[in-house]
Amino acid sequence: PESARVLPGEGLAVGGVPLGEVAERHGTPVYVVDEAEVRERCRTYLRAFPNADVVYAAKAFLCRAMAHWVQEEGLGLDVCSAGELELAVTTGFPPDRIVLHGNAKSPEDLDAALRLRVGRIVIDSSSEVPRLAAAVPSGSRQKVLVRVVPGIAAGGHAHVRTGTDDQKFGLSIADGSAQHAIARVLEQPRLELVGLHCHLGSQITAVKPYLAAVRRMVGLLARVRDSHGVTLEQLDLGGGHGICYRPGEPEMDIGVLARKVYAELAESCAAAGLPVPRLTVEPGRAIAGPAGVALYRVLVVKRTAGTTFVAVDGGMSDNPRPALYGVRYAPRLAGRESTARPALVTVVGRHCEAGDVLAADVPLPSDIRPGDLLAVPAAGAYHVSMASGYNMVGRPPVVAVDGGRVRLLVRRESLADIRNRDVGL
Ligand code: LLP
Repeated sequence: PESARVLPGEGLAVGGVPLGEVAERHGTPVYVVDEAEVRERCRTYLRAFPNADVVYAAKAFLCRAMAHWVQEEGLGLDVCSAGELELAVTTGFPPDRIVLHGNAKSPEDLDAALRLRVGRIVIDSSSEVPRLAAAVPSGSRQKVLVRVVPGIAAGGHAHVRTGTDDQKFGLSIADGSAQHAIARVLEQPRLELVGLHCHLGSQITAVKPYLAAVRRMVGLLARVRDSHGVTLEQLDLGGGHGICYRPGEPEMDIGVLARKVYAELAESCAAAGLPVPRLTVEPGRAIAGPAGVALYRVLVVKRTAGTTFVAVDGGMSDNPRPALYGVRYAPRLAGRESTARPALVTVVGRHCEAGDVLAADVPLPSDIRPGDLLAVPAAGAYHVSMASGYNMVGRPPVVAVDGGRVRLLVRRESLADIRNRDVGL
């Protein structure tokens, strides 16, 4: 499958660069991003969703190069903080292709979005309506969408399900709060309601929940027309398209998803007597995830009565996902070939707690030893962007590989960086 990016028989190379060489030049742990893979994934979306806005969810992974690649490919950008926004615009990302999200946007987030004139702001709560309207400079109008909770359960883990009622995101159809907020937005002369948004959750591999979302959202578009005489032009279906982390796992087929979504949209709109709205999709993981590999060096191999622990030089500070969501990875030996028979080992990190497990009971060559390199495929999304400073272990660098060349995108957090933020005493 696609996410098994580290291929055997090629000296374990990504983007034409052997991983051993990356480790040699940039140290470990290090995150390796395959630029061509990112670009190809952007193109897959644009081909599958013609006449739609494909908006990359920056929270999955953002650096200046990434912003530049997705911009060049013609995508928009979903940001959820002044930080993501600031970084994107410094690369020259056109603000009108940026969408601001957030269930609790800070004054700084809203100020930055209005100052930089982002294309769309997604309203997530009723109280945000007057607050945003008051912040829009007189004489201008801000395009907004209202984030709707359609009441649909989907997603790879409870922590990433956002389509069900009674949760912190969006405004529910079931309790009428979506309808109420829409009415409030329509009363505000400085807000221009251009459409509705929903995001079901993340790591979804089935198409059906998206079709259910289309039906509910079109139902709501029809109600808005009936109650207010307004035909909204945009429908943003969020992201959430799942990838595979281990060979053999299911993943979302973007082409199939797009075909079925367009068909459902056409049918639902025809039934409701509505024109077909312009679609937006907001993939994050499916663009960045399979394009990234985490590369670690083995520091310790410890054989206990029951388990062989392979401890690497990173862990839950650069990848909290196994601890948070129970995600299972398939690490591979990199940097050398081994003909030793595989044995089940548990790959752990260097952090000071027993829950710092990167991959439990995975097969690796039985001759694995300190100094070896381990590559973790499908590490491009929600790793670097969720990295923490736990145990004051500096956050790892990010390098891009492309056509046999490797270049540094984000440098390693140094001891000096860690020291310099601390200004007390
Ligand atoms: N749009 C909105 C409004 C979102 O909140 C998200 C993700 C996306 C789009 C992109 O979803 P994606 O296509 O990447 O699934 N940290 C978790 C994932 C959290 C997703 C948050 N929102 C993880 O590591 O699995």
